[in-house]
Amino acid sequence: MIRRIAVLVTGASGAAFTYRFLQETKKAGVETHLVVTKPGGMVIKHELGLGAREVEQLASFSYSERNFMAPIASGSFRLDGVLVAPCSMKTLAGIAHGYEDNLVIRCASIALKERWKLVLMPRETPLSTIQIRNMLTVSEAGAIVMPPLPQFYFRPVDVSEMVDMTVGKMLSAFGIETKLTREWGTDPAQTSEYVAQKPDVAL
Ligand SMILES: Cc1cc2nc3c(=O)[nH]c(=O)nc-3n(C[C@H](O)[C@H](O)[C@H](O)COP(=O)(O)O)c2cc1C
Repeated sequence: MIRRIAVLVTGASGAAFTYRFLQETKKAGVETHLVVTKPGGMVIKHELGLGAREVEQLASFSYSERNFMAPIASGSFRLDGVLVAPCSMKTLAGIAHGYEDNLVIRCASIALKERWKLVLMPRETPLSTIQIRNMLTVSEAGAIVMPPLPQFYFRPVDVSEMVDMTVGKMLSAFGIETKLTREWGTDPAQTSEYVAQKPDVAL
């Protein structure tokens, strides 16, 4: 049972994913420890028109990126998981190379050393070879690398549905129950033409 997670927000595009994630974790009663980097706050303002306070009020606790005295700066403060979303290429590089110059990278590095679940949502396109290598490095170290890619095969009708599908995947990655995910093959309206009623003996 997921009880306590860190939610670390950096200055990549995609603030809506994390905002919705925090709404859902609050609803689910998960204890959240939030850090928003300075560029993260700028992107939230630009993309959502919200101030830091409005995001912070969704979290149980929040800290400045410079606060190395925060509980989440130490592995002795047990977390059930750490989410970095959206994850900038700068923060990805910091995590991949253990350059812990702020609380976000410190907390993500702790997750790797303690072997806790670490989910990164990097956003950039196209990707340089260096950025792809950094993703491979964190993946080999145990992180789940989950870029926010829309599931067009579920035929979302608007942007908020596309966002929620990704938020569902984020919640599921931490084992948090959600109705936002869908299972391919379970909605007859979308897949009945592909799903055989009887075993396909011709194969
Ligand atoms: C509006 C806006 C959108 C940005 N989008 C991205 C992005 O999608 N991916 C990325 O890696 N950086 C993006 N950046 C640049 C980062 O914010 C910048 O590299 C910053 O140093 C990241 O710092 P942080 O990881 O400590 O938050 C964006 C910046 C702004 C202002």
